Amino acid sequence: MTRRPLVAGNWKMNGLAASLPELMAISGGYSAALKAKADFLICPPATLIREASVQVAGTGVLIGGQDCHGKASGAHTGDISAEMLKDVGASYVIVGHSERRADHGESDALVRAKAEAGLRVGLVIIVCVGERKEQREAGKAVAVVREQLAGSIPDAATAATLVVAYEPVWAIGTGLTPTKADVADMHKAIRETLSQRFGAEGQNTRILYGGSVKPENARDLIIQPDVDGALIGGASLQAKDFLGIASTYI
Ligand code: 13P
Repeated sequence: MTRRPLVAGNWKMNGLAASLPELMAISGGYSAALKAKADFLICPPATLIREASVQVAGTGVLIGGQDCHGKASGAHTGDISAEMLKDVGASYVIVGHSERRADHGESDALVRAKAEAGLRVGLVIIVCVGERKEQREAGKAVAVVREQLAGSIPDAATAATLVVAYEPVWAIGTGLTPTKADVADMHKAIRETLSQRFGAEGQNTRILYGGSVKPENARDLIIQPDVDGALIGGASLQAKDFLGIASTYI
């Protein structure tokens, strides 16, 4: 059993057409040595997905969306369906990011519906989970994450179609990170939860760490037994930083 690491960038609400050269710098830096070790994924804002897909064609870099609606089409002004993401070249979609759970009140049930939509069209789903600061301080981090996993992941998910991203909310964009031991404990708990529910598929499912990953701390955070890559926010906006993190794998 081998889980191929995934180095994923979430550009969030950042990026104009003028940002595409940065994406090209990332794909230009996806060397044979890196290709041998890890998958590269960039999730730009929806407005850039089509052009990003065209520009990275043939480089091996994957493109994903940051969210999708649960339905295929209909009267949902401003929303984007999984079908639409696929149509413009996405092969992955992030669902349940803590910023969407917080900004848009997304429940586990809604996240699950979005994840099911992603699977319906053949996108790989990245389901995000993670505790808030007060939940960690109350000793409830693992319980919170287990509940999110149970409620957000569709039954039909497989190791090939599901990636879990553990992103402690208090570590996102703050420069704060959990200790190496905290990451290890949480990823072990996530692995156990996935294995109990999905058997061998759970063993083979990739679990990413996200939250203030930088080139300087990447080794400590992501080179661990049950950590299969990173979901990178701020540091994915600069090719130099993204490649610096990825180079941890070579
Ligand atoms: P930062 O890397 O900016 O902390 O963001 C992490 C994140 O939320 C990725 O989805």
